[in-house]
Amino acid sequence: MDPLVNIAEDRARARVANDPMAALCVLATVGAGGYPQARTLVLRDLNERLALFMNATSPKFQQLDAGASICMYMPSIQVQYRAQVDLVPIDPALIAESWQLRPRMPKVLDWFYTHRQVQSSTVSSREALQAAIAEFPLPEPLIAPDTARGFYLELHDIERLDLAQPDGLHNRNRWVKNESRWVLSTLLP
Ligand SMILES: Cc1cc2nc3c(=O)[nH]c(=O)nc-3n(C[C@H](O)[C@H](O)[C@H](O)COP(=O)(O)O)c2cc1C
Repeated sequence: MDPLVNIAEDRARARVANDPMAALCVLATVGAGGYPQARTLVLRDLNERLALFMNATSPKFQQLDAGASICMYMPSIQVQYRAQVDLVPIDPALIAESWQLRPRMPKVLDWFYTHRQVQSSTVSSREALQAAIAEFPLPEPLIAPDTARGFYLELHDIERLDLAQPDGLHNRNRWVKNESRWVLSTLLP
């Protein structure tokens, strides 16, 4: 079976169970000094593909070229996925359209990162940041800056760990792509 179908089915089961983790993943990258970096991101479904959205001024964006992995755990169904990912840029027109659906503050921040201070940089205080945002000039109409980026995920080397086994022996599978075919193996949990 195509592991992408497994992922879609597992995420659908978790959504039915109102699992907040169904919509999330952890993206792991390697930082400048070779140190691992991990953070939670919304894992979106776009055009029947998995997608991530982020700002190009962020450290994670700068780190993508060195390789990336995602991890998802959905407690409602006790399933974990791990996968190495390639990131394929999403068409800017589609990003711009989807960006309009964001709440106002993330939109404002995308402009703030672009023209005032890059994402994840230090500010003098939360109060100073609130004041700077309040007087920050915004474009009219409020459209996506070109630092708003999105990527489709191309997963390879996918691992699924299913804890929900009646005999307590976790079920652990790995799929590796060989040319265009997925090759399945079973791993010792
Ligand atoms: C539930 C949750 C969802 C998040 N979703 C996103 C997201 O979709 N895109 C994003 O750039 N950051 C998202 N964040 C914030 C990131 O975890 C992170 O703090 C931020 O992107 C800065 O990461 P960086 O300094 O490693 O670049 C989310 C955080 C949480 C807790």
